Amino acid sequence: MKLIVTDREGQVHTLEGREDWSAMEVIRDANLPLAAECGGACACATCHVYVDDEWLAKLPEQQQQEIEMLDFGVAVQENSRLSCQIKMTDELDGLKVTLAPESL
Ligand code: FES
Repeated sequence: MKLIVTDREGQVHTLEGREDWSAMEVIRDANLPLAAECGGACACATCHVYVDDEWLAKLPEQQQQEIEMLDFGVAVQENSRLSCQIKMTDELDGLKVTLAPESL
């Protein structure tokens, strides 16, 4: 399955997703600049991405912890999600996300 990621310079990367990996793990495995400081524990908000509108409704609903952690994110938008909370599945083949600005 593909995960299509636009980096902060606007460059588009087509990554190979792996079943049951999170989008964060796929992005980090490709050495794109995503801090993901807590390692996927939904405790840092440094894996923040913007999800393309066409994909937003296809994602599983946010858990309360993700909603609360996004309060600590930078430049949070309607389509903001924590990429560690997006598990890659066949249904998400072709998912498009954009890396959010880094927190300082
Ligand atoms: S990696 Fe820390 S919240 Fe996602």
